[in-house]
Amino acid sequence: MKALVTGGAGFIGSHLVDHLVSEGLDVVVVDNLSMGDLHNIKYQDEVTIYVEDVRNEKFMQQLLQEERPDYIYFLAAVASVADSIERPAETHSVNQTAVFNMLEYIRKTNLPIKQFLFTSSAAVYGNLPELPKKEDSRVDPLSPYAIDKYATERFVLAYGELYDLPTVCVRFFNVYGPGQNPSSPYSGVLSILTDCLNNKKPFTLYGDGSQTRDFVYVEDVIQALWLITKSDTEHEVFNIANGNEASLNAIIETYEKVAETSLQIKKAPGREGEVKRSVANIGKLIKLGYTTKWSLEAGLSKYWEGA
Ligand code: UD1
Repeated sequence: MKALVTGGAGFIGSHLVDHLVSEGLDVVVVDNLSMGDLHNIKYQDEVTIYVEDVRNEKFMQQLLQEERPDYIYFLAAVASVADSIERPAETHSVNQTAVFNMLEYIRKTNLPIKQFLFTSSAAVYGNLPELPKKEDSRVDPLSPYAIDKYATERFVLAYGELYDLPTVCVRFFNVYGPGQNPSSPYSGVLSILTDCLNNKKPFTLYGDGSQTRDFVYVEDVIQALWLITKSDTEHEVFNIANGNEASLNAIIETYEKVAETSLQIKKAPGREGEVKRSVANIGKLIKLGYTTKWSLEAGLSKYWEGA
């Protein structure tokens, strides 16, 4: 069996690649290294790697013809709400057009695949009051990022139904763990916090810190992705999260305890297009056999150990 992972040198992608290799799959990675790093992949020698952009349509088509993957995990994305507000056209070309073009090519050429998994985001739920978010909760995408993720989900699911393709979507909540790149101001908050605590840099807190998120350790995310693959599920959406709500203030406090050091905080106004509260219902995943192995404290301790 062969798997293609777009964004396979990125934070979540590289953990997935290592897991797929350990399960005995042949793995092909496409990554333009905009945020990813080949060093993130532990089993680099056992993986076929193409340093390319998923927007290169000709290249992607040739790749699919030559490699003929059974499983496709589409993780390549500009994974930032704030970045999508700064550069909506550019992020749209990655977050939606590249995925759409691949689906369309698979449809037109009848490429046989076992599962096409698209990685969407909790950002699609927006600020509607129902909590925790279930997969069939109403959505309210507030940013170009969330709109692209939601619209692409709809394409992926509709292509699945209309053209009988085995497609599935997952909505990542806030994933953290080793390998998350802290270098951009748009990086995930826990990678930035780790960098600030480690290097005694000031941390910019956007808003009052009462915004909440459902932080899930990357190993649990990989567990979830693999369960979805093994279950041969199709035409479904799954939340991938921990199932617990924590405010940014509470997270900072927990992390300071874990790291035994205090953070220097600079306050800034809240970011545009942001979600105020976020927490998932993970019942659908639990039905597939998912159990969260990492509490926030355990995950932060492990992350801090390696930092
Ligand atoms: C994150 C993911 C996104 C995913 C979504 C799902 C990243 C970069 N983004 O978006 O891909 O789809 O979760 O829920 O991982 N913050 C600060 N200071 C900073 C950085 C962030 O205060 O230096 C705040 C933000 O304003 C926000 C919170 O921390 O309120 C989390 O921010 P961030 O890690 O960027 O994640 P999301 O926007 O939730």
